[in-house]
Amino acid sequence: MRPESTEHTNSPFRPGYSRPPLIFGGHQDEIEEFTEVFQHYDFGENQSVLISGLRGAGKTSMLSRLQDIAETHGWLTIRDDASKGLMDRVVGSTIPTIVNSLSDSEQTRLKSLSILNVGIELEIADRSRTVAPSLRSDLVAISQATDNRGILILIDEVHSSKVRLRELSRFALEISHAMSTGANIMVAFAGVKVDLDQLMEQPHMTFLRRSREVDFRRLSIGETRRVLRETTQVGGRTLAPDAETHLVKISQGYPYLVQLAGDYAWRNNPTSDTISLVDAKVAQGKAKKAIESRVIKKVYDDLSEMDQEFLRAMAPDDGRTKISSIVSRMEKSDQYVQVYKQRLLDSGYVESTSHGYVEFSLPYLRDYVRSTMEPHPAESSGLSEWRAFPPPAP
Ligand SMILES: Nc1ncnc2c1ncn2[C@@H]1O[C@H](COP(=O)(O)OP(=O)(O)O)[C@@H](O)[C@H]1O
Ligand SMILES: [Mg+2]
Repeated sequence: MRPESTEHTNSPFRPGYSRPPLIFGGHQDEIEEFTEVFQHYDFGENQSVLISGLRGAGKTSMLSRLQDIAETHGWLTIRDDASKGLMDRVVGSTIPTIVNSLSDSEQTRLKSLSILNVGIELEIADRSRTVAPSLRSDLVAISQATDNRGILILIDEVHSSKVRLRELSRFALEISHAMSTGANIMVAFAGVKVDLDQLMEQPHMTFLRRSREVDFRRLSIGETRRVLRETTQVGGRTLAPDAETHLVKISQGYPYLVQLAGDYAWRNNPTSDTISLVDAKVAQGKAKKAIESRVIKKVYDDLSEMDQEFLRAMAPDDGRTKISSIVSRMEKSDQYVQVYKQRLLDSGYVESTSHGYVEFSLPYLRDYVRSTMEPHPAESSGLSEWRAFPPPAP
């Protein structure tokens, strides 16, 4: 049973992966441009879009936003992750669902197009096709049967492992062929930049080099304020100005952290009309701890050993780090260090604020890297205690 309280309102903040925010901050220009595509089929350079950014930067939420806007304008949407079996899932299940959602007359037209051998009267999901299903011909057929209705294809979690890339580029190639017939298709891929770059490097993926690239970093201070304030309002409370400023400082504009900090502040005293500075201060420690275990640790684990070593060489400095210090701390050549610097810059983990220097761009990453460099408590105390109790000989 739901609680009867009239005063308690559930938190309107949405901390977590793949949980789109109630108030979406930033990216207005891109959203306007994409809306033009959905509304007027005015593609410009937006026929294919690559959305990059670190974990928690808002890529999946952006895909949800695009899906909502596209569907509002009558587009058909296909959305999936770039995981194993993508092609089979889309051709075997998503497309049949789309076909089922079409009007009777569209389905009849589709049936008359022999390309898609669907037995409309049969349960489409387990139809048997006389020709091998192909994404390309399915898309073209749907497009023809629907007077060239827009089709938005959203693929999340692009990853550059070999098997995945091979399957994904096969998938992308089918889409590009369908596009070349004039079908109104827009495709968006989301992932970490190095992985998207690798996808582009695959054979036959030249069409992706003409993609619109959007790199998600932090929200501006103004947008961070707006998200915190308006989300609180949507939940039916107000955010005290000093609490707002404090939450802006804690979150550093990093979307996942904006939601986490807002959520902890909300929960500190949920029946009060206002989120106060005290609530925001309580949120500080909790949000930092949570972001470390849910995001920063994963981000750091995603990195190669060498990338991690580069970050460890940056960690002793409180602010920016001189490249020459990294060269001497890593005991590697200048050239070698430059290669890793560029990779980390491209990926968004570090930024180059002035010539010859780098700085952490993800809030709290430095603290986390430092914590990994401290001796592990088990090694300093726990283990030595057990030395007096060795396992008995068999
Ligand atoms: N534009 C945004 N404005 C406010 N919060 C956002 C925005 N984008 C994402 N978030 C929040 O950030 C968190 C991570 O979002 P998600 O889309 O899963 O990121 P990613 O896919 O890049 O890892 C979620 O809690 C989400 O609600
Ligand atoms: Mg995501």
